[in-house]
Parts: sequence; C-alpha cells; structure tokens
Amino acid sequence: MKALVLAGGSGTRLRPVTHTLAKQLVPVANQPVLFYGLRAIAATGITEVGIVVGDTASQVQRAVGDGSRFGLHVTYLRQRKPLGLAHAVLIARDYLGADDFVMYLGDNFVADGITDLMDRFRSDRPAAQLMVAKVADPSAFGVAELGDDGRVVRVEEKPRRPRSDLALVGVYAFTPLVHEAVAGLAPSGRGELEITDAIQRLITDGHRVGHTVISGFWRDTGTVTDLLEVNRVILESVEPSIAGTVTADCELTGRVAVQAGAAVRRSRIVGPVVVGPGSVIEDCDIGPYTSIAEDCWLADSEIENSIVLRGASLRGVRRVSASLIGREAEVTGAPGVDCQLVLGDHSAVCVSP
Ligand code: G1P
Repeated sequence: MKALVLAGGSGTRLRPVTHTLAKQLVPVANQPVLFYGLRAIAATGITEVGIVVGDTASQVQRAVGDGSRFGLHVTYLRQRKPLGLAHAVLIARDYLGADDFVMYLGDNFVADGITDLMDRFRSDRPAAQLMVAKVADPSAFGVAELGDDGRVVRVEEKPRRPRSDLALVGVYAFTPLVHEAVAGLAPSGRGELEITDAIQRLITDGHRVGHTVISGFWRDTGTVTDLLEVNRVILESVEPSIAGTVTADCELTGRVAVQAGAAVRRSRIVGPVVVGPGSVIEDCDIGPYTSIAEDCWLADSEIENSIVLRGASLRGVRRVSASLIGREAEVTGAPGVDCQLVLGDHSAVCVSP
C-alpha cells in the first residue's frame, strides 16, 4: 500500500501569499497544512509516499525532505502542468505499480485522520473507497449518491443540482483498477482530468465503490476563511507551554504556547495562541485563535483570529482580525494617517468604511 499526496496547483484563492509559497505549505498553528496530512498517512502504517509536485516543487522538497521525520519514505513526482487530480494518478502510474494506494489532497485537513477509511478499504477491498461528509452546499464539491445497499451508485463533480448532500472529501483509497479508468478519461469543462470522472467510470464498469462518512471537522484550505477555521480547530488542542521568555508584567490565559526563543513583554495573550521561535511581542493584546510564526515583531498592537507568517511585523495597529499576514509583511499604525497601502499583486484588504 502506498500514498499519493497532491502538492501541486497554484492556490489562486490564497493570493498573494501563494505567489511565493505553495498552498500546502501555508502554516496553520505554525506547521504547514501538508504536515498534518503526512502524519495522518503515517498513522495508518503506510510508509511509501509519492508527492506530486508542480511549480513549487523545490519548496515542498525543502520542507518535507525525505519524509523520515514523519516515519515516511518520500518520492517526488513532477507534474509539468496542473491538469487535474486524475492526471496526477496518470503521471504516478509507474511509481504506484500494482499497489493499492490512498490519494490525499495536500491542502485538505481531516481532524480525525484517515484510519477509519483505510481500515474499511483494507477489510472490504472495493475498487475505491471514498471519504464523504455531509455539507450545506454540495454543489461546491464532488457529490456521491448512495444506493439502498450503501454502495456509491453515482458521483458527479460540482453538480448544479446535487443528488445528495454528501461531498467528496479529498481522500480516496484505490486498487490498481483505477488506472484503467484514468487512462480513458477526456478533460472536463475546466480542462482537467477529474478523479470524480474516473470513479464514475469504475461504477459504470460494474466495480464496487464504497464510502466512509466522516462527521468530524474537515476543510479544503483553499480560502482564507477555511484556513482560519482550520487554524482555530488545531489551536484548540495546542499544549500550553512556555519555552520562550515571558516577563512578569504579562497576562496569559488559556492555551498559550510561547515557543523557544520567543519573547513576550508587557502583553496580554488570550489563548489559544502560538508564538513562534524568535518572535517578539511587546505591549500587545493577542488572541484568541492566533498563530504567530517565527521571527515576527508585534509591538503596541491588537490581533485576534489570524495567522501571521514568518518575519512579519505589526506596530501600533488596533483590532486586526480574520487576517492572513504574509512573510515579511509590515503593518503599521501612524498618527494622522487614515489609510496608506503598499500591496502586492492580488492582495485583499478590508477596512472600516
Ligand atoms: C477537488 C475534487 C472534488 C472534491 C474536492 C475536495 O475539488 O475535484 O470532487 O470534493 O477536491 O477538496 P477542487 O479542489 O479541485 O475544486
């Protein structure tokens, strides 16, 4: 059994951060979202992992390395163009060989992991086992329709009129039968080889496709809103710890992790919050639900429900919330200045009218 992890794509909805950072490497609670998926794979006992990479290949390789830190042995598979999830299976054909495999979309976060799906796949061994979840708006996802016996009888990609409320989560287990289904696909309306179409082909050809419903939290971290939600959920279980320095004039409540080499002075922090190594917090009001990465500088500022990336700074700004602040970005407040902006391409800013 192998895993195929998809870590290509351009992450357009997370621009400008994804102009310079792979979307799977955007940190949540100070760890790339991809790492949570790799740990979930390792927890199933799988060790051989193929990571499909695109333009951001070198970044992903640098972050994950050979995978030994996760107990995995990682092979990188280069996808020249983001031509769809089934295209990733196509280019991984030689790597996957005659093995069963789980395909995991590297920007998906599944709080309860994937062991239930894998246990069921291993015991039943259908052609495919799909992870599905009830959602309010199924039309934004692949949608599974079930028959009376619980088998999946139809799957459709982002249907205008969904036949059920069961969305396909970005985790799928396959036998090698999927390779035949993938080989015969034509590009969809969005110009991609859809894994949903390959699954439908398996069903049409009479193969058994099972499903595992998850009720726990999951998100595709494609947008800032989803990313912040994942951040909140992960922070809820952060172990409080003070490895850095916190002076006596600070007030810390709830789950607060001040990582080694961080310094907090004259500030109030309401957890859950993580402060990364080398970051300095002075005269601030931080939290709840805020992740501050390494080497940031926050002075005389207030921030909550946000993610601040490496080397960013906030000085003299009030009530920043629901924000994703990119690496080395500077946010400052100055007397007499209503609003002065120097923004990168595709930035998004929301100010009070
Ligand atoms: C892809 C799949 C879709 C699935 C979703 C889960 O969508 O095509 O069926 O529901 O991942 O994240 P995409 O993110 O490519 O739009």
